[in-house]
Amino acid sequence: MGMSEARKSHRPKLERVNLSEKFDLFDYYWSPKIVGELNGSYVKLVKLKGEFVWHKHAKEDELFLVTKGKLTVKLRHKDIRLGPGEFFVVPRGVEHKPVAQREAQVVLIERKTTRNTGQIRNERTVQNLERI
Ligand code: NI
Repeated sequence: MGMSEARKSHRPKLERVNLSEKFDLFDYYWSPKIVGELNGSYVKLVKLKGEFVWHKHAKEDELFLVTKGKLTVKLRHKDIRLGPGEFFVVPRGVEHKPVAQREAQVVLIERKTTRNTGQIRNERTVQNLERI
């Protein structure tokens, strides 16, 4: 969703969110879905498989929490390997590239303004995030 759309507040649902039920609602990769929001940030779910593109977010930190599978967050001088129950926060300005050999299910927490491909805009960029 565009910047102005992203800033619109959403009436909160007073219901719990079950992650595996939400993950069952979609099966395409690299397409984050919004499942919650708080304090100007979204909680997103994404299924990852294969390699993403190198990118960075100049003004936004980005949390990757793995709930299923394995995810490597490649940094320029280090690889962060995550399994279920582990998370890593990519600090703003740090180049990163998520890689998953097999399907990984990941929770993202990041500001509403964060674009999935960071400073890059290409065919992997997702503009209009669906709420599920
Ligand atoms: Ni990123």
